[in-house]
Amino acid sequence: MSTEEAPTKKSGRGWGWVYAAVFAVVAIGVAVVAGLLMNIDNKKEEAAAYPLRIVEIGADELDPAVWGKNFPLEYESFMKTEINAGQTPYGGSDPYSKLERYPAMTRLWAGYAFSIDHNEERGHFYMLDDQKKTLRVTERDQPGACANCHSADAPRLIEEMGWATFNHTPYKELQDKLHMGTSCADCHNPETMALRVTRPAFVNAMEKLGIDVSQASRQEMRTYVCAQCHVEYYFAGDDKLLTFPWDKGLRIDDIEAYYNEVGFTDWKHAETGGGMLKMQHPEFETYSQGLHAQSGVACSDCHMPYVREGGVKVSDHWLRSPLTNVAASCQTCHRFTEEELALRITVIQGRTAELLRQSEDAIIDAIDTIVAAQGAGGTEDEMAEALQLHRSAQMRWDFVSSENSTGFHAPQETARVLADSLDLARQAQLKAQAVLLKHGGELALTSAD
Ligand code: HEC
Ligand code: HEC
Ligand code: HEC
Ligand code: HEC
Ligand code: HEC
Repeated sequence: MSTEEAPTKKSGRGWGWVYAAVFAVVAIGVAVVAGLLMNIDNKKEEAAAYPLRIVEIGADELDPAVWGKNFPLEYESFMKTEINAGQTPYGGSDPYSKLERYPAMTRLWAGYAFSIDHNEERGHFYMLDDQKKTLRVTERDQPGACANCHSADAPRLIEEMGWATFNHTPYKELQDKLHMGTSCADCHNPETMALRVTRPAFVNAMEKLGIDVSQASRQEMRTYVCAQCHVEYYFAGDDKLLTFPWDKGLRIDDIEAYYNEVGFTDWKHAETGGGMLKMQHPEFETYSQGLHAQSGVACSDCHMPYVREGGVKVSDHWLRSPLTNVAASCQTCHRFTEEELALRITVIQGRTAELLRQSEDAIIDAIDTIVAAQGAGGTEDEMAEALQLHRSAQMRWDFVSSENSTGFHAPQETARVLADSLDLARQAQLKAQAVLLKHGGELALTSAD
C-alpha cells in the first residue's frame, strides 16, 4: 500500500459511496465501449481475412490458384517461392550442394543416404519436386513417411489409407499419388481462413509435451504452422511412423536422452561401425531456446512480415531468408539501419560457422583415431565408450549444421551445443587413443597437430 492512499480513504468517509458509484458507472461505460470496439475490431479482422468470396473453396481443395481467386494478393506472393532469391552467406534459395561446400559431411555421414546428396534448401514451390528427384529417394528405398512434409496430398492420403499404411508404404509406390507440393490448405481452414495444423505428427508430439494444439493462441499458431515440418524427426518402428523425439523436451540433451532410451539408431557409420543419429532441420526446437521465442516473436513475424499492397496490409507469403528482406522482417521491431541489422545476423552466423568447422575437424580426428584403434585390435568392449562419445558429438554438430539459420534462431544455445560437441569429440579421440596405445599402435596424426 502506498502512503498517498491512506488520507484519501480517511477523507472519503461519507463520500465513499459516491466515489464508488461514479467509479462503477465509469468502469461499466469503459467496458461497454471497449467491448464494442473489440467487436468492431473482430468484425474488421474477419472481413480483412475474407474480403471477397468469388469462389467457394471446397474442403478438399488443394490448388492454390483456386484459393487465389479469393485472395489474389496472398496468392501472388505465395507463387514467388518459385523465384531464386539468391544466395546469402549461409542460406538463401540457391540449391547448391552442401556436400561440395562442406566436404567433411561426406565422411561424417559415411554409409548414410545424406552422404550422396544434400543441398541447400529453397522455396516451398519446389518441395515435392526436390524430394522426388533427390538421390536419397531415387538411389535408396525410403518410406511414404517422407511425404508427410513435402506434399499437400498427405493429410487426405493419411485419412484414406490410415496413419500406419501411409507411413510404411514405400515412397516409390506412393509417389504417383503425390501431385501437389505446397498449398494454402497446409496452413489455412478453407471455410474461415483461420490458421490450422494439418499434420498428425506435430499434434501427437505436442500432446506428449502436454500441449493441446487446438487451444493455441493466434500468435502461437503463427509458429505452429511452420513447426509441422521444420523440426527434427525419425521413423518409429516397422510401420515407419513419423515421430518427433520430444517426449523429454525440445533441447538437444532431451532429444539424445529420448533416442538412447528407445534405443534408436539411424545408421551404422561406414568407417567405425558405430550406431549414429542424423538430425534434420530443427528450426522450431532451436528457435524455442532463443530470446525471440521467449519474447513472443513468431516464425511468421520474420519470415512472413506484413507488407502494404495498395493500401491493404497483407502477410508476405514469399517465405524466404530475412536477409533478402531485412526492412520488412526486422525494422518493425528494431530501429536500426538495414546494414546494421544484416550485420547482426551475419556476425552471429560467422561465429557459428567457425565453431561448426572446428567441430567437424574434431569429429574427423575422433573417427581417424577410432579406426586406428580398431585396426590395432581394439575390441568391441574397449571401443564402446569412444563410439558412444562420437555419436553424442556428431548429433550435436548435426543439430546445428542442419538447422537452417546458422545460429541466428538462438545464438547462445547454438554455441553451447557446439562447445559440447567439440568437448565430446575430443573425449572420443582420447578414449580411442588410450585403446590404440594399449594395443601398441602409434598415435594417429590429427588436424589439431
Ligand atoms: C527474429 C526473426 C526470426 C524468427 C522469429 C525466425 N527466423 Fe528463421 N531465420 C531468420 C534469419 C535471420 C535467418 C538466416 C537467413 C540466412 O542465413 O540467409 C533464418 C533462417 C531460416 C531458414 C533458412 C532460410 C534460408 O534461406 O536458408 C529457415 C528454413 C527458417 N529460418 C525457418 C524458421 C522457422 C520455422 C521459425 C520458427 C520456428 C523461424 N525461422 C523463426 C530469422 C528468424
Ligand atoms: C518432418 C517433416 C519432414 C519429413 C518427414 C521429411 N522432410 Fe525433407 N525437408 C523438410 C524441411 C522442413 C526441409 C527444408 C529444410 C532443410 O532442407 O533442411 C526439407 C528438405 C528436403 C530436401 C531438400 C534439401 C536437401 O537435403 O537436399 C530434400 C531432398 C528432402 N527434404 C527429402 C526428404 C526425404 C527423402 C525424406 C524422407 C526420408 C524427407 N525429406 C522427410 C521436412 C521434412
Ligand atoms: C508442409 C511442410 C512445411 C510447412 C508447413 C512449412 N515449411 Fe518451410 N519448407 C518446407 C520444405 C520441404 C522446404 C524445402 C523445399 C525445397 O528445398 O525444395 C522448406 C523451405 C523453407 C524456407 C527456405 C526458402 C528459401 O528460399 O530458401 C523457409 C525460409 C521456410 N521454409 C520457412 C517456413 C516458415 C516460416 C513456415 C511457416 C509459416 C514454413 N516454412 C512452413 C516444408 C514446410
Ligand atoms: C506455410 C503456411 C501458410 C501457407 C502455405 C499459406 N499461408 Fe496464408 N497465412 C499464413 C500465416 C502465418 C498468416 C498470418 C495469419 C495471422 O496473422 O493470423 C497468413 C495469412 C493469410 C491471410 C490473412 C490476411 C493476411 O495476409 O495476413 C490470407 C487471406 C491468406 N493467408 C491466404 C493464403 C492463401 C490464398 C494461400 C495459398 C495461395 C496461403 N495463405 C498459404 C500461413 C500460410
Ligand atoms: C516482432 C518483433 C521482432 C522482430 C520482427 C524481430 N525482433 Fe529481434 N528482438 C525482438 C525482441 C523483443 C528481442 C528481445 C529484446 C530483449 O529482451 O532485450 C529481440 C532481440 C534481438 C537480438 C538479440 C538477441 C538474440 O537472439 O541474439 C538480435 C540480434 C535481434 N533481435 C535481431 C533481429 C533481426 C536481425 C531481425 C530480423 C530478421 C529481428 N530481430 C526481428 C523483437 C523482434
